[in-house]
Amino acid sequence: MRKIKPYFVLICLMTLLFSCKESTFHEGKFFAGGVYATADQLNDGKSVYMDYCVSCHGFNGDGNGVSGKGLFPPPRNFKLGIYKFGHVVAGELPHDDTLYKIIKHGLNGTAMLPWDMSKEQVYNVIQYIKTFAPKAWEGKDKKLGKKLVVGKDPYGASHKSFAIEKGKEVYHVVAQCQSCHRAYVSHEELNKISLKINDEAIEEFDEEMYKLKLQEGEHGYKVMPPDFTMHELRSVGTMKEEKGLKDPERIAINDIYMRLLAGAGGAAMPSWKDVIEDNEIWALAYYVRYLQGFKKDQAKRKAFINSIEKNK
Ligand code: HEC
Ligand code: HEC
Repeated sequence: MRKIKPYFVLICLMTLLFSCKESTFHEGKFFAGGVYATADQLNDGKSVYMDYCVSCHGFNGDGNGVSGKGLFPPPRNFKLGIYKFGHVVAGELPHDDTLYKIIKHGLNGTAMLPWDMSKEQVYNVIQYIKTFAPKAWEGKDKKLGKKLVVGKDPYGASHKSFAIEKGKEVYHVVAQCQSCHRAYVSHEELNKISLKINDEAIEEFDEEMYKLKLQEGEHGYKVMPPDFTMHELRSVGTMKEEKGLKDPERIAINDIYMRLLAGAGGAAMPSWKDVIEDNEIWALAYYVRYLQGFKKDQAKRKAFINSIEKNK
């Protein structure tokens, strides 16, 4: 009997592989918000995914790709259908144009880099990703979250210092962001702000107030709140994909405002919409942006941290 040539086996395997690839989707699908993707779009989305995303996000979308091992944060597990950086209240499904911005811009400080692909490729891969979480996404009856919008900034550049001061008060006393993140004022200053806002002195200072507190999340791992003077903010800069916005300062403040409005889905960071006033959220955005300024200058950061923690 003639021996089968190895290259013949290879050709057979390749043919099988390609026919598999082409025949994955035979019909289109309806996703949340009435979005319809044709079979061709889904098949194209799959091939984009196999080329660029599978190494981290994995064959079945669970985030366990070969290059995803040991990454923190780990690649998103698409099977859960939970997204951190939508422009919707945390926990709701994001709109395609937001996912588009995230994929084009990447997530700062993580392995999720910017992707330079055509609009069509990005759009198609977004549809494909949804097929990993059919319970969350598939069906005409599924709803997207209500899209949040960045309204009018009540401060603007001319009232920046005022906004930062107010943001500091909101951060430490009104919203108490240091219950998860850390505090950025001394005991003395915290007491002063508390007297001003609540007419109450602080009887006992929380020993953990200068520490970051690891939080339980729904993504299958614990989530760390950032220290704004040290860490990158992941979703800041994505709005540069929005038409007409050029000034990086404006983009950053708008993005921080949006993140505070929306929270981070499944990652303990709550939505502050209707919890505190809109002008307070804007003030916080200015304050967080101000704190980010220390990131550029380690000596300045050290001096600042020493000055606030002096009577710890
Ligand atoms: C080198 C690894 C890597 C590759 C390749 C990669 N990603 Fe990611 N991706 C990540 C990581 C890490 C995160 C999680 C970041 C976080 O939790 O803050 C992420 C998160 C995401 C998210 C979640 C956004 C949200 O709001 O929760 C989407 C969507 C996404 N990636 C899409 C893609 C697509 C599409 C591709 C291919 C074009 C891709 N990724 C390629 C590492 C990667
Ligand atoms: C219950 C805990 C909790 C509280 C309260 C909280 N945060 Fe967060 N926050 C987190 C966690 C955890 C993350 C990191 C999420 C991730 O990226 O995985 C985060 C992330 C953020 C980010 C970064 C978003 C990005 O794009 O990377 C900002 C900005 C932020 N928080 C601001 C605030 C402010 C301001 C307050 C108070 C108004 C606040 N947080 C209150 C837990 C909290």
